[in-house]
Amino acid sequence: MSEERLEEELTEEEKGIFDLFPQLARVERRQENGHREIKSFVLRGQKLKDFQIKALKEHFYEYAIVYNHNKPMDFEAIFGNKNPVIIEIGFGMGESTLKIAKENPDRNYIGIEVFLYGFSKLLANASKENLSNLRLMRFDAVQVLQDMVPDNSVDGFHVFFPDPWPKKRHHKKRLIQVPFAELLASKLKSGGYIYCVTDWEDYANQMLEVFGKVDILSNPYNGFAPQVPWRPETGFERKGLEKDYKINEIWVEKR
Ligand SMILES: C[S@@+](CC[C@H](N)C(=O)[O-])C[C@H]1O[C@@H](n2cnc3c(N)ncnc32)[C@H](O)[C@@H]1O
Repeated sequence: MSEERLEEELTEEEKGIFDLFPQLARVERRQENGHREIKSFVLRGQKLKDFQIKALKEHFYEYAIVYNHNKPMDFEAIFGNKNPVIIEIGFGMGESTLKIAKENPDRNYIGIEVFLYGFSKLLANASKENLSNLRLMRFDAVQVLQDMVPDNSVDGFHVFFPDPWPKKRHHKKRLIQVPFAELLASKLKSGGYIYCVTDWEDYANQMLEVFGKVDILSNPYNGFAPQVPWRPETGFERKGLEKDYKINEIWVEKR
């Protein structure tokens, strides 16, 4: 399947929203930096509902951080405080993101997701709850980390149920590979954590192996971790559990 989306593949709702917020359409253009790269996602459209469109129109600038390769994030300026910052990659519909952010007002959260339907749903829910410790980005997390997140600045990363890309020929699209793990590690503060969860067993083993190859990361569990009590069930997890898939958790820390 092509990762590129043609103008005629966009839904009417997306077209309307992209006219209003051209920043939101930038991830649609695959060659943002002039070179083609393997991406960990395929963009798909889904008709936005009225509540999502309303939320985007009314709250986009309150909650969205716009991708700008020339603008490193200043967390203190974004959140107005010095609280720890946790970045979640690929939040999907954002149910667990919302819950974690709500229950931890003394921490700041940045959720990154390319799927516009999920992005606008979480934006709608965050504004309904009036959450001030959550910001969202609709962009490729790899590029966001490379271009906008300062080194040694992040307290934790959440990667819950990244796309498993089960076919062998697609394994190159999997997010958790050594270069990405090194990128995550470089952005963490010393003592910061990476928390990944998957229901795909061979991907879980790949994660352990990949993180094991990054010297500045250590695994306090020497294998899979127990589920952290504050992690709510995610939408994707529910589908895996219905099929009796085993959930594996991986928790590593920066030395
Ligand atoms: C399998 S879903 C899991 C969603 C959610 N975490 C859950 O557990 O329900 C993976 C999500 O990651 C997103 N994704 C994949 N690669 C991404 C990237 N490079 N940057 C941002 N989002 C990405 C996809 O759009 C998709 O929504």
